[in-house]
Amino acid sequence: MSELKIEKVWKEYGDQIVLEDVSLTVASRAFVALVGPSGCGKSTFLRMLLGQEQPTRGTILLDGAPLPLEPGADRGVVFQRYSVFPHLTALGNVLLGKELAASRYKARLFGQARRSAIDEARALLAEVGLAGAESKYPAQLSGGMQQRLALAQALIIRPKVLLLDEPFGALDPGIRAEIHTLMKRLWHETQMTVVMVTHDMREAFTLATRVVAFERRRDRPEEKERYGATITKDISIWPPRIAGTASIFGPDRDGPVSSLGHRRDDLAPSGDF
Ligand SMILES: Nc1ncnc2c1ncn2[C@@H]1O[C@H](COP(=O)(O)OP(=O)(O)O)[C@@H](O)[C@H]1O
Ligand SMILES: [Mg+2]
Repeated sequence: MSELKIEKVWKEYGDQIVLEDVSLTVASRAFVALVGPSGCGKSTFLRMLLGQEQPTRGTILLDGAPLPLEPGADRGVVFQRYSVFPHLTALGNVLLGKELAASRYKARLFGQARRSAIDEARALLAEVGLAGAESKYPAQLSGGMQQRLALAQALIIRPKVLLLDEPFGALDPGIRAEIHTLMKRLWHETQMTVVMVTHDMREAFTLATRVVAFERRRDRPEEKERYGATITKDISIWPPRIAGTASIFGPDRDGPVSSLGHRRDDLAPSGDF
């Protein structure tokens, strides 16, 4: 189980209202794509789910319990860039994900625990297509490989919720398509609930079970500070995608039409994404 319940959440920075009255229930094992114009508070929302930021008002529940006040092993995160540490090898980066979760104060594992963590990290690197790159440093890896590494680093703690902030936005289209296939497989094979911010509607409709748009209802310059963004569209993908059901007999389809029967391009809320 990994249900997220966001209830009447507001986020303000000083006088600026960034998000207002956001309520959203994300079912266990859903894959939600979050879209919206730049600056509307998508990353802020994701940081609240991570526990890096607190809502000004409202509550966030994970499986019915208030979200812990800081990031924890139940939530993993991948950013567009800089999720991995440049001075650690690929294996070191994945191990660090494990070590940080195992011990908050001394980020080291010893003996048998360390050996089994190394085995697990190697297996996960192979799983994301990085077998053979264990001893390479991030600077020696392509952008796509670095994001695969960032995924492995987030996944080693087996998070209940995986948070992705435009993780594939900087990748070339061919590489992005490959990593989409990987992402889908990981989502099907694990128990995770995924919330992914993207500015790419095609990506949203390729991966998600549900596409949620944030927008300010009023966006005149003099109104900007006083009105935050909120959910303006909430579209369930049709036909429904269900985690764990893709197989060679019923492969997941790319590019479904939405339940509204629109073409994808028509669904883009106004904005610069
Ligand atoms: N730590 C912060 N302090 C003050 N303002 C912030 C902070 N983080 C984000 N903001 C503001 O909140 C708004 C939303 O930012 P962000 O969540 O990054 O938007 P998005 O990810 O949708 O582009 C922006 O106006 C930004 O300047
Ligand atoms: Mg952002």
